[in-house]
Amino acid sequence: MKKTAIIGSGGREHALAWKFAQTLTWKNVFTLPGNGGIPNSHSVDTKNFTEIENFCKNNEIDLIFVGPEQSLAAGIVDYFKDKDIKVFGPDKEAAKLEASKIFAKQFMQKYGVATADFKIFKNIDDAKNIIEEKNGNLVIKFDGLAAGKGVFVCSSVDEANSALQELEKTYGKNVNFLVEDKISGDEISIIGFTDGKTIKLLQTSQDHKQLLDGDKGPNTGGMGAYSPVPNVSNELTEKIRKKIIRPTLQGIKAENFNYKGVIYFGIMVKNNEPYLLEYNVRFGDPETEVLLPALKNDLYEIVKKCISGNLDEINFEFEDDYFADVVLVSGGYPKKYDKDYVINGLDNISKESLIFHAGTKKESGVMLTNGGRVINVIGRGKTLNKALDNAYKEVNKIYFKNMFFREDIGKRKNKYLKF
Ligand code: GLY
Repeated sequence: MKKTAIIGSGGREHALAWKFAQTLTWKNVFTLPGNGGIPNSHSVDTKNFTEIENFCKNNEIDLIFVGPEQSLAAGIVDYFKDKDIKVFGPDKEAAKLEASKIFAKQFMQKYGVATADFKIFKNIDDAKNIIEEKNGNLVIKFDGLAAGKGVFVCSSVDEANSALQELEKTYGKNVNFLVEDKISGDEISIIGFTDGKTIKLLQTSQDHKQLLDGDKGPNTGGMGAYSPVPNVSNELTEKIRKKIIRPTLQGIKAENFNYKGVIYFGIMVKNNEPYLLEYNVRFGDPETEVLLPALKNDLYEIVKKCISGNLDEINFEFEDDYFADVVLVSGGYPKKYDKDYVINGLDNISKESLIFHAGTKKESGVMLTNGGRVINVIGRGKTLNKALDNAYKEVNKIYFKNMFFREDIGKRKNKYLKF
């Protein structure tokens, strides 16, 4: 029996579960802990690997797909290494590509991956000179995982000093961080699968991290995404492969990483040159919500091929359409927001569109908000504009108190990714 458990509780995990369920059916796809909208969600403490193991044994699950980075960084792959249950993802050492910004930068440097110049620091005071030297035009990155709160993109000495103060307040004066050159351009996410020998890429996508229209306001976990990014030239694609993807694969092999999982390249394009900003060792959120509906292949088969080291036997096939995701959040997010508001309108969604739940819970048959990012609304269309129109049409059918969303998803004026 093919059965899988997905770890996580957001829109990404709903999209993953939905994709697995296409071939395995919902009764064989378990999500731990899941949310109010993912069928077959189970309340399991996912920080406790023994609890996950017991749940999987009791339900004859032999494959675990990990959504968020925390479980990978904490060593879930290592925990299950000699057990019958397979976990899809990198082990703790390889997960440092995301969990340690310094480790990742040193890896990029060692294997000639195109990236911004950087310096490593272990004490707040030591970075004062470079801030003056660069006029505060730089990026400061805390070394460890910080749920999106460890990266400061600065444009002035004051901003850079405030970033250092913030770091000091949270972690103390003796903290590992890096300072890197700021590259301004167009961001693109490229996500693929690896079996440690091959990397196969899904389509391109673009995330919208800031809260407000025009890319203003605080960073969030993602306010929307679309895929594919139109008009990425063949020349740029080849440069991305040559300067980022291939040297990364060479590094994974040379370091002998135990890495059978998802790899995410966060790329900045400037003057038609790609630079790697970061690796993630898992699917992006909300990118997953627009990537998986476009993927025609059976996800379970892809994962099995990765685990057996035969990813090269698979050719990915994609739908010919564009997909757009508008995220509905609770007013106040990413700071303080309220929960427990009734979500209306979910029964009226058109069959061509998809809804992936994030911060929701179901109580006595009623769907309630239960987090900052609440619902992902996915539209599909022959053009990006059509996909966006379709997504916003469905957004207008949904309502909960203090609901908020960006109105300009997919409308960014990219400078180098022209369309
Ligand atoms: N969308 C960015 C991330 O998942 O990290």
